[in-house]
Amino acid sequence: MKDILLIALYAFAGACAAGLLGAVVLRLLRRRSMAVVLTVVAAVAVTAMLAGTLVVAWAMFLSTHDLKVVTLVAAMAAVVSLATALLLGRWVVAGSNALTLAARSFGEGGSFAAPDGAATAELSELGRELASTSAKLAASRERERALETSRRELVAWISHDLRTPLAGLRAMSEALEDGMAADPERYFRQIRTEVDRLNTMVGDLFELSRIHAGALTLTPTRISVYDLVGDAMAGADPLAREHGVRLVGGRVESVPVEVDGKEMTRVLANLLVNAIHRTPADGTVAVDAELLAGSVVLSVTDGCGGIPEGDLERVFDTGWRGSEARTPPAGAGLGLAIVRGIVEAHEGRAAVRNVLGGCRFEVTLPAAGS
Ligand SMILES: Nc1ncnc2c1ncn2[C@@H]1O[C@H](COP(=O)(O)OP(=O)(O)OP(=O)(O)O)[C@@H](O)[C@H]1O
Ligand SMILES: [Mg+2]
Repeated sequence: MKDILLIALYAFAGACAAGLLGAVVLRLLRRRSMAVVLTVVAAVAVTAMLAGTLVVAWAMFLSTHDLKVVTLVAAMAAVVSLATALLLGRWVVAGSNALTLAARSFGEGGSFAAPDGAATAELSELGRELASTSAKLAASRERERALETSRRELVAWISHDLRTPLAGLRAMSEALEDGMAADPERYFRQIRTEVDRLNTMVGDLFELSRIHAGALTLTPTRISVYDLVGDAMAGADPLAREHGVRLVGGRVESVPVEVDGKEMTRVLANLLVNAIHRTPADGTVAVDAELLAGSVVLSVTDGCGGIPEGDLERVFDTGWRGSEARTPPAGAGLGLAIVRGIVEAHEGRAAVRNVLGGCRFEVTLPAAGS
């Protein structure tokens, strides 16, 4: 028993000495290739075993023949383990090189595809992670491109929309200045209308830029949907009368919502103005508010005859307007983008769908807790 303990102690001491030496070498080579590191690890294992054996042999006075046998066995083990370590190292290095090459392609704007047959579980996990990052990067590049295009289009449309009324204002003021205007009163009225329109457009642009910059500061208060709808309908009533459109409050439940009253009134006003403008005289625009599965759904239904299916998902885009709306005095296509921006800032959703004879714009807001 004592012998066994002694052998273990000597073997441990010999192996420790080899292990310490290996640790120093590994530290010196820590930035080298995986193949080199693996070879050193295998060499350390074999040397530790050999060192242990030699120390035991020396302490126990083993015969030279026995020592030769043991050393030979250790040497054979060393050859096989070094070859295995080298092979494994080269395999891991090849896998990691393939991954580096694939990663470089997506850094340069391409998309990443993980190379087949990753050498280790960690490399295959890294490949999966890079593939998902690459997909996210591609989606964000696509979003950025779309945003840039829509921004460029918006600037072009707005410049066009501003130029037309400004040219009109200039012509009218020149005519008034030269005393050429046959009916100055009519010119003044016209100038006033154009200035109001430009003012609204600039106000909408300002609101939209605040929404896009995330600078919309909401002051939410608890309001009854009933009051919200009532105020918006009262505001739109003169326009409805002017157009001969009936404005009806359908089913309006008196549920509370926690919203910024001013901004939400603007949302309803934009929807009502759109609906009234696109409903023929004698038609009806209905406003409803219902409580559905913990959400309040505000809806404005008009008699526009329906929006072409292909246009339904574009109506909320900034600057987009239907082809029939291109002729003056068309709006700038900002109203619904503002609606969506304000509603989303309230963690709600804005949507549109066609119904019989018209379309229905729906704003879904979280109901205020009791
Ligand atoms: N109630 C509606 N019925 C039918 N089409 C609509 C309705 N509301 C909006 N649209 C379509 O969506 C387009 C975009 O509407 P949006 O309110 O954003 O712009 P606009 O009314 O043309 O201009 P702005 O609101 O800036 O004065 C409109 O041009 C129209 O084609
Ligand atoms: Mg509008």
